[in-house]
Amino acid sequence: MSRKPLMAGNWKMHKTIAESVDLVKKLAALTGAPADREILVCPPFTALAAAAQAAKGTAVQVGAQNMNDNLQGAFTGEVAPGMVKDAGATHVVIGHSERRQFYGETDALVNKKVRLALEQGLTPILCVGETLAEREAGKTFTVVERHVTEGLKALSAADVARVVIAYEPVWAIGTGKTATPDQAQEVHGFIRRKLEALFGNAAEKVRVLYGGSVKPDNVDALMAQPDIDGGLVGGASLKADDFARIVLFQAVAAPAK
Ligand code: 13P
Repeated sequence: MSRKPLMAGNWKMHKTIAESVDLVKKLAALTGAPADREILVCPPFTALAAAAQAAKGTAVQVGAQNMNDNLQGAFTGEVAPGMVKDAGATHVVIGHSERRQFYGETDALVNKKVRLALEQGLTPILCVGETLAEREAGKTFTVVERHVTEGLKALSAADVARVVIAYEPVWAIGTGKTATPDQAQEVHGFIRRKLEALFGNAAEKVRVLYGGSVKPDNVDALMAQPDIDGGLVGGASLKADDFARIVLFQAVAAPAK
């Protein structure tokens, strides 16, 4: 596998500027500059520039948690792609389930943002995943297929190779309920096959991260799966020690139960 793992921390609506700077510095000190993996943190907008400044000269990269789907204009309260880039972000999370759920983001809007991020030279992290009700109704693959197909609509194979996908089953977010490594691999493998059908060889280049209660004690087994190329970590990315341990995962198979 030639895909370099990416461990991304989504801080959601947590951390002041001072706390963000402190966390970036601690994380950089604890993780060093490993050549075989990438490290990303996604602070809130208010701390983006300060976190990016603190990350300069370290292996820590900085991303935004969202952006607007327009380049500029009368959109009170919104933040443009060029602004997050200007603040020092290289990545942007798009279509997180919390944005789909609480702010009504549709597949069409998510697709527009993915295309705009690519145009602006940002790496989009496209989030996909089913709710508990959808899983229980046997709709996991239908929902994930729709999120992937619609989210990547009108992209070329070359564009897709620059996209990161995050599979985050909504029922595993912030609940302490992780998908088992096998459950996650089943969906990650499905995503890979869908990408192959849509974009051919470019599918091999796309990193598919797992998100949903990733912790120091389950990351190694998750990362041992062939189609899990990293993590999108919420709660456990807020503590330097925990996130550093996650970044420094060692892919090993889960112990037999
Ligand atoms: P938790 O790791 O807190 O479950 O959050 C996952 C997530 O939503 C990351 O984007």
